Amino acid sequence: MSTTAPMHDHLDAVLFEEGEILARLDVIAKQITADYRDRDLTVVAILHGGLIMMADLLRRIRLPLKIECISVESYHGGVESSGEVRFNVSEMPDFSGQHVLVIDDILDSGRTLAAITRKIGDECAPESVRTGVLLNKRTERAVEVEADYIGFEIADMFVVGYGLDYQGRYRNLPLIGTLKEEYILPEHRAR
Ligand code: IMP
Ligand code: MG
Repeated sequence: MSTTAPMHDHLDAVLFEEGEILARLDVIAKQITADYRDRDLTVVAILHGGLIMMADLLRRIRLPLKIECISVESYHGGVESSGEVRFNVSEMPDFSGQHVLVIDDILDSGRTLAAITRKIGDECAPESVRTGVLLNKRTERAVEVEADYIGFEIADMFVVGYGLDYQGRYRNLPLIGTLKEEYILPEHRAR
């Protein structure tokens, strides 16, 4: 597997171009601006995947919001959800009095968003907790959870870009696409 060729050459197909993604974020940001008017809003990015959407979305929201980041991991480098959500934080932020909006790149098995919203609700005393994802994967959830704000629906496939990684790479692709098989390790192929 050569990872040195230009990144776009690694793509098999493009699902959503940058312009489409940003246009969709415009719509969602308007909705969020209306929904959280006159409320204290803290937006929480789930690292690392939620980072790219966070940056583009927040600059479109016309509210004096605060930001936090929470680091978790559930994939551990493969192409399928591992079933375990690890929190890499020593202390959770204090969200008392805050309406919290959790942002992640994708909703897949549901474990990550479910674990985070539960932990924030249990430990951080927020006024409310809602969720937003760029992609909603149409797959069987391991945990029943749906996002409040959704960028796009996708089929049950492995995608990279715009925050989403394979083996830690491709998060900086400004679009969402699928990888050519030659860039996927043999043990992760053929889903
Ligand atoms: P869940 O806990 O199964 O819902 O998984 C959510 C996390 O898995 C996301 O934050 C992503 O980091 C990762 N993930 C799920 N689907 C994909 C994908 O298609 N490509 C890359 N990462 C993914
Ligand atoms: Mg990931």
